[in-house]
Amino acid sequence: MKPIQMVDLKNQYIRIKDEVDAAIHHVLDTTAFIGGPDCGEFECDMAGYVGVKYAIGCANGTDALQIAMMALEIGEGDEVITTAFSFVATTETIAVTGARPVYVDIQPDTYNIDPKKLEAAITSKTKAIIPVHLYGQPADLDEILAIAKKHNIPVIEDNAQSIGAVYKGKRAGSFGLISTTSFYPAKNLGCFGDGGMIFTNDDQIAEKIRMIANHGSRKRYFHEILGLNSRLDTIQAAILRVKLKYLDNWAADRQKAAAFYNDGLSGGNVIIPKVAPQRNHVYHQYSILVEKRNELQTYLKEKGIPTAVHYPMALHLQPAFSHYGFVRGDFPIAEKAADQILCLPIHTEMDEDQIRFISSSIKSFYQA
Ligand SMILES: Cc1ncc(COP(=O)(O)O)c(C=O)c1O
Repeated sequence: MKPIQMVDLKNQYIRIKDEVDAAIHHVLDTTAFIGGPDCGEFECDMAGYVGVKYAIGCANGTDALQIAMMALEIGEGDEVITTAFSFVATTETIAVTGARPVYVDIQPDTYNIDPKKLEAAITSKTKAIIPVHLYGQPADLDEILAIAKKHNIPVIEDNAQSIGAVYKGKRAGSFGLISTTSFYPAKNLGCFGDGGMIFTNDDQIAEKIRMIANHGSRKRYFHEILGLNSRLDTIQAAILRVKLKYLDNWAADRQKAAAFYNDGLSGGNVIIPKVAPQRNHVYHQYSILVEKRNELQTYLKEKGIPTAVHYPMALHLQPAFSHYGFVRGDFPIAEKAADQILCLPIHTEMDEDQIRFISSSIKSFYQA
């Protein structure tokens, strides 16, 4: 059996090496390192893929969220609602604008924001709602969008983990006023460094986002609004153009691996991921809920099986946000997920023997 890795970027690269190398060399030959043709072409490819009018490259998924909020002029005195269980970027960017993050607890089985608890979090200061499509599965977009519409609040989808996932026939990332994604290498569509993108159907917001990402400027050395420097570099765009062609096949590989895990783990002592109705899951992570997590991780590590915990602490309990005054018990389902979640290896290069070995090792841990 091949050694098991959490993510196998090397073998994925080897499969498409000729195409990727040619794309990189083309950029080197043209020396169009910033804003070269690949950037515009990749933006068109991505707008078409996600099914929106505009896709605007930027430096990473964190910037994408910050730029989205800057475009909506979110700042001091405002509140932004988001999930209590995500990567820190979702909440950090709210805080960086000067706004206050307002958390909503998650559903116990999908780990996505619970729309039943959303409306109670809305106040006159709420300026945006940011659902995160966690682990590869879209959140309950219909319910979220209906509440947002009723209160006239824009939705920003944080789609860093679910690019390619489909909700009721449309891609995640095509529902909110704005959506964002990350091309961090380990993401389902990852580049060879940092990268991010912002999506919208709105002409004016698209123009504003472009300006913000370019120092608040439309015309060189004229700066109309406050902006920053956030570019997707051309080499990354060229690599991503190649990888995008494979994304749906790779999602299918991940889904096959997940189905194999489901078979191997069901009826055991762990809770396997649930896919909610009318959407698919592109398994950026295959996450299970477990008892005795530390002991299980050690046991698996000794057998050569890496695992990861995304995320060991709910956002409201992170020290960086302690000044907001949240305490343990405020969002109990997110806290329980943080205590019990365990992410198993899943990527495009896994084989059935590896998954069988991982599943049977987990079962044997609980039988011992
Ligand atoms: C849900 C979520 N949002 C935002 C980000 C930030 O993306 P980046 O690392 O490209 O800044 C990530 C990356 O891990 C993420 O998982």
